[in-house]
Amino acid sequence: MKKVLRVEDLAKKFKKKKIFSADSEEVVAADSVNFYLEQGKILAIAGQSGSGKSTIAKLILRAIKPDSGKIFHNEKEIKDNSDELKKFRMKCQMIYQDPYDSINPRMTISDIISEPLEIHNLGTKKERKQKVINTLQMVKLEPAEEISKKHPHMLSGGQRQRVVIARAIIVKPEIIIADEPVSMLDVSIRAEVLELMKDIQIKNNISMIYITHDLATAKHFADNIIILNSGRIMESGSIDKVLTNPENAYTKSLISAISEPDPKNLYKDKEIAV
Ligand SMILES: Nc1ncnc2c1ncn2[C@@H]1O[C@H](COP(=O)(O)OP(=O)(O)O)[C@@H](O)[C@H]1O
Ligand SMILES: [Mg+2]
Repeated sequence: MKKVLRVEDLAKKFKKKKIFSADSEEVVAADSVNFYLEQGKILAIAGQSGSGKSTIAKLILRAIKPDSGKIFHNEKEIKDNSDELKKFRMKCQMIYQDPYDSINPRMTISDIISEPLEIHNLGTKKERKQKVINTLQMVKLEPAEEISKKHPHMLSGGQRQRVVIARAIIVKPEIIIADEPVSMLDVSIRAEVLELMKDIQIKNNISMIYITHDLATAKHFADNIIILNSGRIMESGSIDKVLTNPENAYTKSLISAISEPDPKNLYKDKEIAV
């Protein structure tokens, strides 16, 4: 078993201004967080809103600095301003919750998807164009030629998130961190977008962190899970063990919120939030 990503004792506190007061309070967003992601597996990080899920994603990519702790890619430490960090940012791609936030509305779909290739100086113009078409086909946005010339507002929410997925996979990442990738989408299309992500993950042997507040999709989608509360890991392990045989009282309380006994119906008409 290969650990493609490992975090060691990550800690991060934020100072938050109190409303109607000059005072600020300290928020613990990550507290002694330790975990690893296995090669080719999906690790869910689950917890309520504000539990520190996005902070972990940002710390991994060093979009924010940890107060303390280390991050390892294939057991090599990723330090600030290092060549490793540059390489790591290509190997580890992020998919955000809101496709509108993460794509430029004035660019064509083709330019949006080929942007990472340009940033990393990969391929000729012609090669990039061909790659965009192939990648659009991989995310099932067809006819690819036609879609590539459109602008984001001409697509549906689900199609826009497929564009975001295409942009993440065009650089052939080893790792994808998907931060609540379907929570902004209509309930009726969440399952198909998750299925697509899983299909791409398996075919390309990508390792994935799936961040969610929804234990039901985590159960369907992930191999392993971490339950997060106030920046701390409450429980972790294989998805079956943690969700069918939880040891921690907090995990138990989250699971009891899931009322649907038949997993086939989980996506149907309700969101099961933790
Ligand atoms: N840049 C920031 N400045 C101040 N507080 C922040 C910042 N980012 C996150 N927080 C706080 O840290 C906690 C964890 O946030 P976050 O990681 O976004 O949680 P989640 O993604 O699980 O909803 C929350 O209390 C949030 O308000
Ligand atoms: Mg978040």
